[in-house]
Parts: sequence; structure tokens; C-alpha cells
Amino acid sequence: MPKFLTIDDLNFKDKTVLVRVDFNSPIDPQTKKILDDTRIRAHAETTIKELIQKNAKTVILAHQGRKGSADFIPLKQHSQALSKALGIPVKYVEDVFGEKAKKAIKELKNGEVLVLENVRTYPDERKKGTPEEHAKSEFIKNLAPLADIFVNDAFAAAHRAHTSIVGFTAVLPSVAGRIMERELKSLSRVLENPEKPCVYIFGGAKADDSLKISQYVLENNIADHILTGGVISHLFLVAKGFNLGKPSMQFLEKQEVLGLVPGIQELMKTYPVKIEVPTDIAVKAEGKRKETTVNELPTSYPIYDIGTETAKKYGEIIHKAKSIVVSGPMGVYENKEFLLGTKKTFEAVAASKAFSLVGGGHTVAAVKELGLTNQIGYISTAGGALIEFLMGGALPGVVALEKAAARA
Ligand code: 3PG
Repeated sequence: MPKFLTIDDLNFKDKTVLVRVDFNSPIDPQTKKILDDTRIRAHAETTIKELIQKNAKTVILAHQGRKGSADFIPLKQHSQALSKALGIPVKYVEDVFGEKAKKAIKELKNGEVLVLENVRTYPDERKKGTPEEHAKSEFIKNLAPLADIFVNDAFAAAHRAHTSIVGFTAVLPSVAGRIMERELKSLSRVLENPEKPCVYIFGGAKADDSLKISQYVLENNIADHILTGGVISHLFLVAKGFNLGKPSMQFLEKQEVLGLVPGIQELMKTYPVKIEVPTDIAVKAEGKRKETTVNELPTSYPIYDIGTETAKKYGEIIHKAKSIVVSGPMGVYENKEFLLGTKKTFEAVAASKAFSLVGGGHTVAAVKELGLTNQIGYISTAGGALIEFLMGGALPGVVALEKAAARA
């Protein structure tokens, strides 16, 4: 577990506190409306609520989308969603560190909350840099003198060495917020000496990420079993020498992931008993689910799910697990015919007594759709940051907090 300070370590009464959160939410490209406010509610119900109760003057810094993308919108809606989640009015100013923002910060009273404009409207926000380099920017030089404390609660953006993520830690007393703390604590349960057996379940289409995480957790003796589904498992089957048939092979070619096969073969050679690949699969034949064993491959139909026998075997391994990570659905679960693999596997995770951690947009959506949310140990709000962390990477936002703590 990283060594940083938390909200418990400082006094927040009467203090002006800059809080970097991750409000980045899915946005409807047509209406520009927020489609899911999970992240906003998570920060509201924890860190922000606590700072209000502690009588701080809370200033929220956040990003939404990237310049030029359809989801790059102002944070007005986010401030409204935050107000709704908190049940109190929340101020909003269309400015990050100009005169309007500075005036609004100075006028804040104890217990009040102000949301500043999307930090990515500042052109250099996404420039990579060290805390010390960023501390010289106009952004930090204008805002830091108005604040007493910096709270980084944006675990989901902690993999970015961006101005608002790391810059304030060089010049202000800096602590981790509750979401940051909660995410790292939960992750340490599956990454640092996890209770054994420890099972990592990979599905979905992000083959490159899954392979890197597999390598890390196998080489470091973290995972005892790797269960594969989705596109990932198709690649593992190819690595085992199976020809999947034209539709699935063409799909893998189009995704440009076949280059990962040698790396997978190497991994399977080194850890022959730890990696599970499907023994049966479900294809979409004339619009219907049809199961076959992998020994019957190739198939002229596209593969859409793991088969019943595979799901059963995965369920047995999950049943014996003490810690579980789930990243990616087992098949095209959005289509009811191909929900089975994901349903059986995720239900086994939900029923298990193990500590389970689930992350990634599609995985979390599938868990929600199956009504299993309350039976999962921890649902991460992060995407890219979670992946980087599971690969064993150091997150600049976390490292910056550790450095600030060492200085303090
Ligand atoms: C995320 O949603 O993963 C974070 O908010 C980071 O967003 P980014 O990939 O645009 O930096």
C-alpha cells in the first residue's frame, strides 16, 4: 500500500481545499448529456461530503473528455449532478484560474462547494511533467496561493502526469481523498500478497492489456489461475494452434492483435497449468446460439461466447478462490443468446466467499445488468489507471502524493 497522507492527517476547518476528482463520464454524442453519473456520486458521497462536514471551502477540479472529442464539454452539468448527489447548492464558474475563478474561490464560505471549469480547457493541462515542472505553470501559480490544501481523489486519472494531477503536490500540503484511498486499498488486496488461490479473469477485447497484466501477475506469483474469455480467449486458442475459422480469424486480423500470439505462446509455455482457455465455445449460427467443442474448430460462424462446459469449469475454479479480479465479459453479453458465459462466470464470482474486484466499463455494466453489484467486493471506478496499476506500473498521481508525504 503506498505511503501517503489522507484526510485524517490534516485539519480542514476554515481551509480552502482544492480537490482533484475524476468526473469524466460517458456523454451522449448527440444530446451532450451525461449518461452515467456513477463517478460524480462516488466522489460526492465520500470525500466531498466529508469536507463539507469538516467545514472546509471545497473547490473542485476535474476534466471531461479531451479537446477535439465529442465528450469534451463544460462541467456545468457535472456541477448540477454533484448538487443533486449532495443535496445542497453547488457553485460553478466557467473559468479555471482566471479572475472569475479566483473571485469565486475567495468568496467561498465554510461548507460551500465550487466547481471550476473543465481543466482541459487549459491548453497545457495534458502535457506530461513532474510535479516541480507543473508547479511553474500559470495554472498552479494562479490557484495554489488561494488554497491551503490539495486533495487528490482522482485515482481514475492518476496514470496521467498532468498539471492538475501532480502540480499542486509540489507546493501545497497534499493528501489522498477517500476514493483514492479506497481504490488503492482494494487493489492491494488483489495485488500485494493476495489471499490464495488468487484468480484473474480476462475477457472483452483489450487483448494487449490483458496479456501485460497476465505476464505481471504470473511472473510475480500473484495469480494462481488465469481464466480467459472474449476476444482474449480467441487469441489464446490461436496460440494453442487452433484455427478458429474465417470470421473469427478475420476479426482478429482486423483488430491487429495476432502479433500478440508469440507472447501468449511464451506465457503458456512458462505457466502451462495456470492458464485456462475455453474447451467449448458458442457461435452465432443463422442468428442463433450453437455450442461446439474447440476440437471441432474451425467454424464458419463467428465465436460469440464461451461454452457451457467452460463456464462450469471456470465456476469450479472461482468457487475455490480467495481473491478474484474480473476484467472483461466472457462474450457478447449484450445479445441475450450469448449472455450465458458472462452470466455463469460472474454469478460464480458473486456467490464466492472470495474478495472480488471488478473493473472496466463493460465489465461493470454487465455486473449491473445481472443485478450482482452488491455481491462484489469492490467495483473500481477506474479504467486506464486500473489497467496500468494491475500491470505493476507506478501511477504519477500516487507517486506525487507519496513524495509530498515524505516531504511533510
Ligand atoms: C478515464 O476515464 O479513464 C480517466 O478519466 C482518464 O481519462 P483520459 O484517458 O482522457 O486521460
